[in-house]
This record gives sequence, C-alpha cells and structure tokens, in this order.
Amino acid sequence: MKIIIDTPEAIARAAAQRYVELLGRKPDAVLGYATGSTPLGLYAELARLCKAGELSFARATTFNLDEYIGLDGTNDQSYRYFMDKNLFDLIDIPKENTNVPCGLDMTDEKAAEYDRRIEAAGGIDLQLLGIGNNGHIGFNEPGTPFGSITHTMHLTESTIQANSRFFASAADVPTSAVTMGIKTVMNARSILFIALGSVKAEIVKKMLCGPVTEEVPASVLQLHPDVEVYLDPAAAALL
Ligand code: PGA
Repeated sequence: MKIIIDTPEAIARAAAQRYVELLGRKPDAVLGYATGSTPLGLYAELARLCKAGELSFARATTFNLDEYIGLDGTNDQSYRYFMDKNLFDLIDIPKENTNVPCGLDMTDEKAAEYDRRIEAAGGIDLQLLGIGNNGHIGFNEPGTPFGSITHTMHLTESTIQANSRFFASAADVPTSAVTMGIKTVMNARSILFIALGSVKAEIVKKMLCGPVTEEVPASVLQLHPDVEVYLDPAAAALL
C-alpha cells in the first residue's frame, strides 16, 4: 500500500495522472467510479484534461459503486444523475459505456448480475474509492461480509445523517441502496483511495492501522496488493 499525503488540489492532479497513464496504455480500460464530495476535484481535473485533449475516455467502460434504491436516474439525488453532471457529460465517453447500478425494482438476485457484467467487461482495472465516516466503502456498511458481491443494503443511521447534507432533511434520504460488494471491490486490479478532511481522520487511522475486520469495511484494503491511498493533511492527522 502506498500512502501519499498532499493538498486536495495536488491529490486531484496526481490521481488524474493515474487515468492519463492507464488510458494511454489501455484505452479500453474498465474504470470503477465513486460518488460523494471526495471525488469532485478529481472529476473536474479529468474533465479539464479531456477538454485539453490530454485524455480520452472514448473506448473506456465505467462501473459505479452504488446507487440509492427508489431513485431513478432522472432524480437529481441519484448517483446516475451525479455522475452525468459531474463527469460523464463533461468527457468524451459514450453514455452506453457507463454503468451505474439501477435503483429501481432492485433485488439481491438482480444485483448479482452487476458482478457478471463487470466480469464480462474484463474486470475493473482501476477502482476509485472514498470512505464513509463509519468505514464503509461503496455502501458496504460495517458488518458486511468480505465475501459479498453486489447486493442491497440498509443504510445505517450514521450514513443517513452524513448524507442528509445533500437532501432537504434526513427524512428525505433513501434508507437502502444497491452496492458493489467487498469482494467486487477487492477484485479490481488497482485501487485509488482518497480521503479528505478532519472528519475522516479517525476512520482513516482505523482503516490503515487497526485490525482487518468486517466492522471496518475499508480495513480490507490492507489485504489488496495494489492500493494507492491519497490523504490530505487533515485526514492523515492521526497517523
Ligand atoms: P464523501 O462520502 O465523499 O461525501 O465524504 C464518501 C462515502 O460516504 O463513501
């Protein structure tokens, strides 16, 4: 595991260079993407590089980590909407190459199909991850089995509270989601992890320095052979 501590701006630039390198070497790479506030700087940088002609996603395929259950892609709180607005509409990727789990009529059987689609596409080359305050990756809340594939998940109260900042009130936050499983994430060939801000300092310490336990889902990354961890000084403060 490689740990890089830098400013959020420098992290966005350095992380974007991973995509320049990967897509330069493998233009049809399979990219795993994440939502939340953490990747926004990186997505802006990817859009800038694409506009400048330094990066092309024309042959790439993407798979997002998760989606709220009950929201369709036209809902401005859905992760499909978030990805279109913050990345896909700003780069040269054909929309049909972008995959976000469907939040409607979702069951665990249908969710498992997402893993088969990832496999059929050749597996994820580079998975982007943030972390929840409770250690979740994707929407894999504490206690999720490390052997899980894409599945549905009831969100914990702490996740609902954390995500309520994007909604009118906590009561408006969907209470369940569909998410790649821990095993789905661990199957990615490389992982690019970013955590920013003091609110993440405690959980980053547990993830990197604590025991590998299903109670801290992100701690499983200690077992992955190719992870780059980008932290700003505030998120790294307790290391
Ligand atoms: P954030 O969310 O990027 O908005 O902090 C991360 C997460 O919950 O995985």
